[in-house]
Amino acid sequence: MNRETQICGLGFFVPDKVLTNDDLEKLVDTSDEWITTRTGIKKRHIVDGEACSDLALVATRNALRDASLTPRDLTHIIIATFTPDTYIPSAACVLQKKLGIKDIPCCDVDAACTGFIYALDLARGLCALYPEANVLVVASEVVTSRVNFNDRSTCVLFGDGAGAAILSNSAANGAVVEDILLKADGSLGELLSVKGGGSAYPLRFGQQADEDFFVQMQGRPVFKHAVRFMTNIAREILEKNNLSVEDVDLLIPHQANNRIIEAVAKKLGISPEKVFVNVQDYGNTSAASVPIALAEAREKGRISPGDRVLLVAFGGGFTWGAALLKF
Ligand code: ACO
Repeated sequence: MNRETQICGLGFFVPDKVLTNDDLEKLVDTSDEWITTRTGIKKRHIVDGEACSDLALVATRNALRDASLTPRDLTHIIIATFTPDTYIPSAACVLQKKLGIKDIPCCDVDAACTGFIYALDLARGLCALYPEANVLVVASEVVTSRVNFNDRSTCVLFGDGAGAAILSNSAANGAVVEDILLKADGSLGELLSVKGGGSAYPLRFGQQADEDFFVQMQGRPVFKHAVRFMTNIAREILEKNNLSVEDVDLLIPHQANNRIIEAVAKKLGISPEKVFVNVQDYGNTSAASVPIALAEAREKGRISPGDRVLLVAFGGGFTWGAALLKF
């Protein structure tokens, strides 16, 4: 594996429309106090007609500008999402068309909330195979298209958004992808699912979508597994690279719930100042949460040249993963 594959451009985008906890109080039996104390979320951005590829397009343009590249410089497009515009064509193919380019390979990857880190590892593999590659990885989610706004236990948690990264072997001053670790355990899949419309639960012509068309989750066990798996994989990737938490300048965890983030940080023994949190502004944007946080952390000056950043995520499947970046 080429140890010098770098992220040479980052960008993110969230839709303009904002849904606050106060707005949700008018939709379901909940309160700002309950949502804030249980999750840390204050507001989330939601689409107003935009699809996955629309969010991806703006995030991509921002990442291309950051990398001083144009769409024609891209050699591959991977979109991490569980909410593509359509099943066919893939969101990556739709994005390619919107970027006004042709011929380069495009596909979607679904690893739920861990999707960005999964796609990053696939992109790293492409960079190893094709030394001249400029691989676009976008995690873009319209999670609200699969949220039941009658279910208070899930609808308060999620938001929409996109984050993009461009990987190449030739960048002068990008973030080196030092290592990535990925895991999955399909035997736990029932705890967090979106089943309706899949081939095991097909929608027949004229049939209405049921509850299983939307995110269904057993909150407490998901919480416990999220803390355990993210903590363990963070430890494992550090150990594998002969590093300790003292070598990490910033931890960027999946932004699902502030209590999960606090528990992971505490177990790892990493101080809160070294943990980036923006869940209060965006809610859980699934695969997009890590690249949005990464791009925003850098934009806000939380990452300096020479810093080591540890990404860690967890999602449905279950899937989980970690990545070490050196800026
Ligand atoms: N407003 C008010 N009350 C609510 C709400 C709400 N929005 N939602 C649930 N409640 C009620 C429940 O009905 C229950 O009431 P009861 O005691 O009368 O039965 C009570 O609050 C407690 O419910 P719990 O589910 O036990 O609450 P908990 O403290 O576990 O918090 C939460 C729920 C926030 C969902 C938590 O379990 C959690 O964060 N789990 C992890 C979820 C997550 O992060 N998933 C994403 C990770 S993977 C991915 O990103 C796809």
